[in-house]
Amino acid sequence: MKIAIMGAMVEEIEPLLDYFKNYEVVDYAKNRFYLVDYKNSQIVIAYSKIGKVFASLTASTMIEKFNCEKLLFSGVAGAINEELKIGDLIVADKLCQHDLDITAFGHPFGYVPEGSVYIKSDEDLKKIAFLVAKEKNIILRSGIIATGDQFIADKKRKEWIKNTFKADALEMEGAAVAVVCDALNTPFFILRAISDAADMDASFDFDEFLKSSAKESADFIVSMVDKIIEGWK
Ligand code: ADE
Repeated sequence: MKIAIMGAMVEEIEPLLDYFKNYEVVDYAKNRFYLVDYKNSQIVIAYSKIGKVFASLTASTMIEKFNCEKLLFSGVAGAINEELKIGDLIVADKLCQHDLDITAFGHPFGYVPEGSVYIKSDEDLKKIAFLVAKEKNIILRSGIIATGDQFIADKKRKEWIKNTFKADALEMEGAAVAVVCDALNTPFFILRAISDAADMDASFDFDEFLKSSAKESADFIVSMVDKIIEGWK
């Protein structure tokens, strides 16, 4: 079993590298990949850099060059749903691109021909996540995650995303990873810990809570990897 674990920023994968400790480093496509042998399985860890384009490149590389069979994304997000507080974990049921707009041609926001507004994440990986959450006594929420190439620090834009896509959280990579994994038939799972509320304090909160929230997410992903490998034996 070969599992990809992806983040967008170095802070999002650092806790994973600290945990796994021994890895081989491969540089490819202006990206660094960390290859880990773990419990008779292989794990490939990388951060893509911020945004949908870089995320697509890294996800594609993880699957096509490194032959990863499942992809887990770990990182932080801005909360839309008011029940989500800083440090809370949310797993994506489905994801959409909030900045994709050819409405001038009569299409809905987030849609291009031959695509779909939402892409669903893998049900089995979600089940494993809820098992892990139960075992660890962690509250894990699920919902819609909206992705776009914008850091949202604005109440009006946040409300628009909420009303247009019924989104619970927003970030800058998840839907891009979803498009790639869906196209390449690779089960994927997107986990985010809340770092801010996408409001006028968002950039301050993001800087303050990036590390701690990224660690919440990464720690959970490690437990998921253990469960996935256990089930695979
Ligand atoms: N990731 C974490 N917080 C975010 C925000 N406010 N906007 C976009 N991506 C984010």
